[in-house]
Parts: sequence; structure tokens; C-alpha cells
Amino acid sequence: MAVEATPDTAEGAAPAANGSHDHGRLAPVFPRRLRDHWLEGHAAEVAELALDLGRSLGLSSFELLELELAARLHDVGKRAVPESILSKPGPLSAAEWSLMRRHPEWGSGMLVDVPGLEAVAEAVHAHHERWDGSGYPLGLRGERIPLASRIVAVCDAFSAMTTDRPYRAGRPEIEAFDEVRRCAGSQFDPAIVDAFVARGERAAA
Ligand SMILES: [Fe+2]
Repeated sequence: MAVEATPDTAEGAAPAANGSHDHGRLAPVFPRRLRDHWLEGHAAEVAELALDLGRSLGLSSFELLELELAARLHDVGKRAVPESILSKPGPLSAAEWSLMRRHPEWGSGMLVDVPGLEAVAEAVHAHHERWDGSGYPLGLRGERIPLASRIVAVCDAFSAMTTDRPYRAGRPEIEAFDEVRRCAGSQFDPAIVDAFVARGERAAA
């Protein structure tokens, strides 16, 4: 089983507005506010984790800058996903999933024409690729996946697992580390997992 990195299902949908007659007025507004709050907080945490990890991997200042941008913008393509899908409280249909799975491509498309952000666009495009080639959108394998994408994938998953959401508490960090370790060599680059776990152990010491 793979670690589900980000709220690709709409599990984070807002609760009903207490069944009051205000529900109709609040419903179109509250889910978007909640979603933006969650995504922005999540993006900032992923960027912080990715920068830490990038430093421990010896990335240059310029590579760290590109990594931070890729981490902050990795899910920007979800802005193009219909609100009805992002806020859907139940499981997504196959058609809805196929739209959701286009967010890396859409995010990359938003960035690729910005001069200087070509590598960031490429990293955003590949953030759901998996080390064993079973990811999307291209099924890239191993080191053909940009390094920034491989780093973001680990940090994204860890952040998603440990963060409280409206419908469930975040998992303890120790469990999230175990899950990341378990997925080394399948979902994640094992060298990056080693560095991530070592960084966690140093922080806990
Ligand atoms: Fe994503």
C-alpha cells in the first residue's frame, strides 16, 4: 500500500453547518476557505521539511531555492480542479479521480512559461511519480524523477500523515517515519528516506 500524500480525495471537506438554515449560505464559501487554509499550511510545512532535507543532502543555494518553490507550489494545480471534487465528502468516482490526477500537469502548466521556473515546473509535474515507476502522470522511474520531486514526495507524505484534519487526528510522527521507511524503494527514493529518517533521529536526540 502506498502513502497517500496529499488530500487527493476530498476527505477534508467541511462539516455541515450544524444543519441550520444558514447552511445554504455558508456551504459555497466555507469549504473553499477551509481547503485553502489547509493547503497553504501544508505547503509551508512541506517547504520547511524539504529545505531541511535538501540542506542535509548538500544541495546548493540555488537548488534549495528551486526546491522551496517546488515544495510550496507542488499542489498549485489543484486550483484548476473543480470545487465539487475537492470538497466531495465521499470517495471520488473514476472520472473524478482522472481529473484530480491531472493536478501535477495543470500546476506545471501554470509555471512552465515563467522565465526561470522551468525546473520548478518540471518538479511540480513529477511530484506524484514513484521510485518504482508506478506513479503518475508519466510513470517515471528512479533518478529519472527530478531530485526536487523525490524530496517533495517524502515531505508531502510525512506532512499529510502527521497533520490533523477536520475528520481525523494526525498520526504520531514515529508511525509516519515507519510508513515512510516501509515505502523506501517502492514509492520513495531510498537514499532520500535514509536522509529524512536520519534528520528526524538527529532532531529527536
Ligand atoms: Fe499533489
